[in-house]
Amino acid sequence: MTTTTNQADHLLISQVSIDFPTPQGPYRALDKVNLRINKGEFVSIIGHSGCGKSTVLNIVAGLYKATEGGVILDGREVDEPGPERAVVFQNHSLLPWLTAYENVELAVKQVFKGKKSKAEMKAWIEHNLHLVHMDHAMHKRPDEISGGMKQRVGIARALAMEPQVLLLDEPFGALDALTRAHLQDSMMEIQADLGNTVIMITHDVDEAVLLSDRIVMMTNGPAASVGEILEVNLPRPRNRVEMAELPEYIRCRHAVLKFLYERHGRKEEVAAPASQADATADDGESEPERGNVVALKAASAKAA
Ligand SMILES: Nc1ncnc2c1ncn2[C@@H]1O[C@H](COP(=O)(O)OP(=O)(O)OP(=O)(O)O)[C@@H](O)[C@H]1O
Ligand SMILES: [Mg+2]
Repeated sequence: MTTTTNQADHLLISQVSIDFPTPQGPYRALDKVNLRINKGEFVSIIGHSGCGKSTVLNIVAGLYKATEGGVILDGREVDEPGPERAVVFQNHSLLPWLTAYENVELAVKQVFKGKKSKAEMKAWIEHNLHLVHMDHAMHKRPDEISGGMKQRVGIARALAMEPQVLLLDEPFGALDALTRAHLQDSMMEIQADLGNTVIMITHDVDEAVLLSDRIVMMTNGPAASVGEILEVNLPRPRNRVEMAELPEYIRCRHAVLKFLYERHGRKEEVAAPASQADATADDGESEPERGNVVALKAASAKAA
C-alpha cells in the first residue's frame, strides 16, 4: 500500500526540459518532465538506455540545471547540490586517496559536525559500513576493492548522511545477487525507519516492483518525458518470496514489461531478468546483467 497520502508537493519536478550543447546544435534530452513526489515515497524511474533517467536525477541533485522548468523541494527551488539530497551515482564516485571509512567519514563530518561527538561519528560510520557488509574492508582504498564493493561504500556514504531525499542511480546494478537482495531489503527497512524520500533509477523490473510505491516509465529520447506512472499497491513490509506470487506483483511486472517492450520497444535494450544474472554472480563485478546493460548502452549509442 502506498504509505503516503497527504504530502504531495514535497518534491516537485515541474515542466523540466534540458538541451545539451552538441556540435550539431542543442540536443533536447528531456522535454516537459512533470512529477510530484510525496514525502517518504519510494519512486523508481525505468526506461531504455539513454532516455534521460540520469539527467532527471542530476537535475534533482542540483548538478545539472534545467533549460526550462525546475525542481522545488519543500517550497524551495533546487539550484545547487545539498546534503539533504544525497546521490549514489551510476559509476561509483569515491575519492581514490581515501579509504572506504574515510570516504564515509568525509560525508558524515559535513552533515553531523557539532551534532555528533567523535565517538558517535565513528560508531555511525562503522554502522553504515556494516549495513552494506563492508566491515572487513573499511580501511582499504577504492583501488584495493572490487567495483561492487565500491558501489556499496557509495551507498553507505549516502545513507550515513540521513538525507531527506536519497537519489540512487542504478545502485545495485554492479552487485552479486545475494548482496543485491540483502541491500534491497536493507534499503526498504532503512526507508521505513527514516521515512526519507527515494528516487531510484533501475533497469531491473523486479527490483522496481519490489521496492517502489510508484514506477515512473520514461519514453525514449530525444525529448524524453514521463510516459506512464504505475502505482504499486503491495503491502509493506515486503518479503520478496511472498510478493512474487501476489496478483498485484504480477500485474505490475506485466505493466512495466508491456510498456518497455511493446509500447516503447527497443527489445535489445532491456536488461535480462535478475534471475538470469543471478546464476553466475560472484562478489562484486560484472555479471551477465551488467554486461547486458553495457551492451545495450553500446547499441543505443550506435543507434543515436
Ligand atoms: N553532459 C551531457 N552532454 C551532452 N549530452 C548528454 C549529457 N548528459 C547526457 N547527455 C545525453 O542525454 C541523453 C540522456 O542521457 P542519460 O545519461 O540521462 O540517459 P540514461 O537514461 O541515464 O541512460 P543509461 O540507462 O544508459 O544510464 C543521452 O542521449 C545522452 O547522450
Ligand atoms: Mg543513466
